Amino acid sequence: MTSEICDVVLQGGTCIFPHAISKADIGFINGKISSFNPTIKSATKIINCTNLIVFPGVIDTQVHFREPGLIHKEDLQSGSQAAALGGVTAFLEMPNTKPPTTTCAHITEKVAIATNRAFAHFGFFIGATANNLQELIAAENCHGCVGIKIFLGSSTGDLLLYDQKILEDIFRHTRLPIAIHSEDELRLKEREHIRNQATHPRQHPEWRDVETALRSTKMILQLARKCQRRIHILHISSAEEMELLRQFRDTATVEVLPQHLTLQSPDCYDRLGTYAQMNPPIREYHHQAALWRALRDGVVDIIGSDHAPHTKNEKERGYPASPSGLPGVQTIFPLMLHHFLEGKLSLLHLAKLLSENPANLYGLKGKGQIAIGNDADFSIADIQASSSISADLMASRCGHTPYDGMKLKGKVCMTILKGNVIMQDGVLANKPMGEILDRTKC
Ligand code: DOR
Repeated sequence: MTSEICDVVLQGGTCIFPHAISKADIGFINGKISSFNPTIKSATKIINCTNLIVFPGVIDTQVHFREPGLIHKEDLQSGSQAAALGGVTAFLEMPNTKPPTTTCAHITEKVAIATNRAFAHFGFFIGATANNLQELIAAENCHGCVGIKIFLGSSTGDLLLYDQKILEDIFRHTRLPIAIHSEDELRLKEREHIRNQATHPRQHPEWRDVETALRSTKMILQLARKCQRRIHILHISSAEEMELLRQFRDTATVEVLPQHLTLQSPDCYDRLGTYAQMNPPIREYHHQAALWRALRDGVVDIIGSDHAPHTKNEKERGYPASPSGLPGVQTIFPLMLHHFLEGKLSLLHLAKLLSENPANLYGLKGKGQIAIGNDADFSIADIQASSSISADLMASRCGHTPYDGMKLKGKVCMTILKGNVIMQDGVLANKPMGEILDRTKC
């Protein structure tokens, strides 16, 4: 017990600390955690967390919020509202907007757009191109830039880079974390006839097959190891890549998505059609089982949502004219909580995958752990309750979710940003409180 006077006390919750789970009252002053079990009497505000689980703020390290340029799909306000409603306190946003985010000026523009509009804390990726090395280097000192994104295979937008000489230059001369979309562009092109002749999204994983992902992942791991450059490989979707990644723990960190952990082919395509179409694709059950095995073995570092909204009209164009990508920022935490309650992983492990590891990998100051001095960002859940996912409750402008109607164990009930409640029981605060994320030096 300490006698410090706190602005706010979170009272009675079960807290997920880095190495233990225990009941504690958490006091904050000026948006930072100042004490555990403080004298409650003196607090100006008490938030009752009895019977609730208090997580360190969930950080979604892969979202596409489409602003500028594609705001008919999403914008930084709607996307961040979806984040806060789903218990996400911070997001890292991808560069395949229009124009693509390939300069420090573009990052600064995104920061300006997000400021006073975001309902969660924010940081942005700069996209690598064949000729923006100087920008990638300068981005180390650009406030709001959290990392470099490389698309080795083409997906939504024009960003694409697979020239090994240029990749090697980027690996050797930059210091920001590098996140990679790994699919082999040449194989995609060679086999484009499969896509062009296809009539059903069930054929999407035939075109973008395991070999397409594996070949690219092998290439980039070997290149990174040669350059002694750590990389982060996004949305791993196959058993074969996971086997390979086990041997490259010194080189690469690994992300998986709730989509790949929850949905499976061919069922998802039969049920959802193009609403299950994404890159890299959702594959058969044995791949999903391998992802879970790798996650339990510690080969997976981060779970991100790859929130990639497209409108219903766009999705309804029919395969192959329909764009790839599924929304997910509002469902990542509820779904993963459900997986915990189904016995798939522990709460301590979940907090590492959703908060601590993201903060460490991207060097996010004051984030990732419930610890004195850190920001008072929390994602709070009731694991005795149940909930369900409904497209009607999604704040994303796209208005759909592949999980519509799914019943979940557990319920996300509160999101707190620097000591302020931004969402409670499905209701958002009436003002945005998201702030720019600060990085520790590279
Ligand atoms: O399916 C996808 N959609 N995969 C990506 O890598 C990009 C994303 C998008 O931006 O739509």
